[in-house]
Amino acid sequence: MLGASIGIFIILNLNNAIVFRFTNVVCESYNKSWVIWQNCRLKAVSRSKVILNMNASVFYPANSVKIHIKLFKKANGFKPWLMDRNIDACRFIKSRHDPIMRIIYGLFEDFTNVNHSCPYVGSQIVEGFYLRPEILNLPFPTGDYMLALRWYLGMSASPTTDTNVSFSFVEDLLKST
Ligand SMILES: *[C@@H]1O[C@H](CO)[C@@H](O)[C@H](O)[C@H]1NC(C)=O
Ligand SMILES: *[C@@H]1O[C@H](CO)[C@@H](O)[C@H](O)[C@H]1NC(C)=O
Ligand SMILES: *[C@@H]1O[C@H](CO)[C@@H](O)[C@H](O)[C@H]1NC(C)=O
Repeated sequence: MLGASIGIFIILNLNNAIVFRFTNVVCESYNKSWVIWQNCRLKAVSRSKVILNMNASVFYPANSVKIHIKLFKKANGFKPWLMDRNIDACRFIKSRHDPIMRIIYGLFEDFTNVNHSCPYVGSQIVEGFYLRPEILNLPFPTGDYMLALRWYLGMSASPTTDTNVSFSFVEDLLKST
C-alpha cells in the first residue's frame, strides 16, 4: 500500500517536471471552396501552457476523410521520425481501431467539436487545446517535433488541407521538487 502511494507520488512528480507544449502551428487549405481556416493560432497563457485554437469552415459535407500522419523530429531541420501512416478518420471515430490515432485523438478530444461520426460540415473547432503529458502517458525522447496531418476530404486524390503542429517535449528532472 505504501509502495503504491510512493509510486503514484513519483509519477505525479515526473509529470510536473515534463515540459510538453506547442511551439508552432500552420494550417493550409488547398481547396478554399471546401475548407477555409478562420483561425489557427497558438496563445501562451503561461510559461508552461500554450493553447491551440483552430476554426475551419467546411462548406460541403465531408463523408470520407483520410488523414496521412507523419511525425518529424528536429535534428538539423525536421527529419521523418518513427511514424508515417494513413488513417480513415470516419472509421476511426466509430471504432477507435488505430492505436496511434487513439493517442493523438486522446490528447485533443476534450477540446473539439470533431467528436461525432462523419460527415463533417460547418465550423470545425479546436479550442483551448493544451498538451498534457499525463494523457500522452508515453516515454518520449526529449526533443522538438512536428506532427503533420494531411487531410483528404471526399474521394479527392489531392490533399484538401494540412495541419502541422510543432511541439517540444522536455523531461526536466532538475525541476522536480
Ligand atoms: C474543391 O472542393 C469542391 C467541393 O467538394 C469540389 O467540387 C472541387 O472539385 C474541389 N476542387 C479541387 C480543385 O479539387
Ligand atoms: C468560427 O468561424 C466562424 C466563421 O467565421 C464563426 O462564425 C464562428 O463563431 C467561429 N467559431 C469560434 C468558436 O471561433
Ligand atoms: C461533442 O462536442 C460538443 C462541443 O464541444 C459537446 O457539446 C458534446 O457534448 C460533445 N459530444 C460528445 C459525445 O462528447
